[in-house]
Amino acid sequence: MSQLHNTFGGPDGLRVTLFGGSHEPTVGVTLEGLPAGIDLHPDDFEPDLARRRSGAPGTTARREADLPHFSGGFLECKDGSFVTSGQPLTITFENQDIQPEDYEPFKFHPRPGHADFTAAVKYGVEAAASGGGIFSGRMTLPLVAAGVLAKRMIAPIRVDACLVEIGGIPTSDESAVAAALKQVEADGDSLGGIVECVCSDVPVGLGEPFFDSLESVLSHAMFSIPGIRGIEFGDGFAAARKRGSEHNDRFTDAMGHTATNGAGGINGGISNGNPIVFRVAVKPTASIAQPQETFDFAAGAMRPLSAGGRHDVCFALRVPPVVEAMTALCLAQ
Ligand SMILES: Cc1cc2nc3c(=O)[nH]c(=O)nc-3n(C[C@H](O)[C@H](O)[C@H](O)COP(=O)(O)O)c2cc1C
Repeated sequence: MSQLHNTFGGPDGLRVTLFGGSHEPTVGVTLEGLPAGIDLHPDDFEPDLARRRSGAPGTTARREADLPHFSGGFLECKDGSFVTSGQPLTITFENQDIQPEDYEPFKFHPRPGHADFTAAVKYGVEAAASGGGIFSGRMTLPLVAAGVLAKRMIAPIRVDACLVEIGGIPTSDESAVAAALKQVEADGDSLGGIVECVCSDVPVGLGEPFFDSLESVLSHAMFSIPGIRGIEFGDGFAAARKRGSEHNDRFTDAMGHTATNGAGGINGGISNGNPIVFRVAVKPTASIAQPQETFDFAAGAMRPLSAGGRHDVCFALRVPPVVEAMTALCLAQ
């Protein structure tokens, strides 16, 4: 069986290692290469953690407090705040609302669309057995916490992501979205969505052609998030249907600002000083109650599988802070 490596970033920059599993005692992250002197309060983590937390319609019934515990890598100040020391910093979260037994049936009757099959072949059946293990969306909780530190590192660059579409419906049409989520849940099915991310106040010059072009490293970061199916920058796929005269971004000043932003703020793999704009496609949740005929490896036959356990009807609802975190971690490197 293969070893499971779970580190993002090289030896010289910021390096992030995830550990734990969704229905194990904890999930967490260790950050190495953090600069000394970032001052933070534990409360600074809550806004982003709350945006990722379940509770809204269309999200899982699992409830977690998501309280971060910090160890190593910081000096404590009097009012509960802390300042990073430059040593590796570990942030751990306890899993309180766990039901690992829900995932037992998937060991040999893997969920279509999930990682049960690939994880079992590559790492053994135990790797994803406990609630999806490292393949669970719960692993994005420590990522979001790491992102809070990365956002501080990249200031004054700002990263803002929001969900713009659910199941093909613009999120601005709140009543249609609410009705679609209700209907899909009643059908035992799921929905995907599109998250748009905008990075503002980005200087000209981030990105290294060829292989570390800014689009390449951001795409790497985005596809690290479970369940991402696509990414487009600026005009994206629509650029292929435009003329050069329509897609070209004309310069309007000596700073390199442009009248339009079809390139999404990147030319030649290098940030051009305009906002970086990209969108990611989030797939519909794989674990659905609706039975699906799929191969049972123990029985050696096709059998219907209705995915038990608690799941998001539309996990795209919880993805925007994860996209922000991965973007900030990428830019921080
Ligand atoms: C925040 C978040 C929550 C998720 N919640 C669920 C869930 O409740 N049920 C599920 O089947 N997948 C969920 N996923 C997606 C799975 O983790 C993902 O589909 C799985 O790891 C397989 O990877 P792939 O879709 O990239 O192939 C979630 C992902 C994220 C980012």
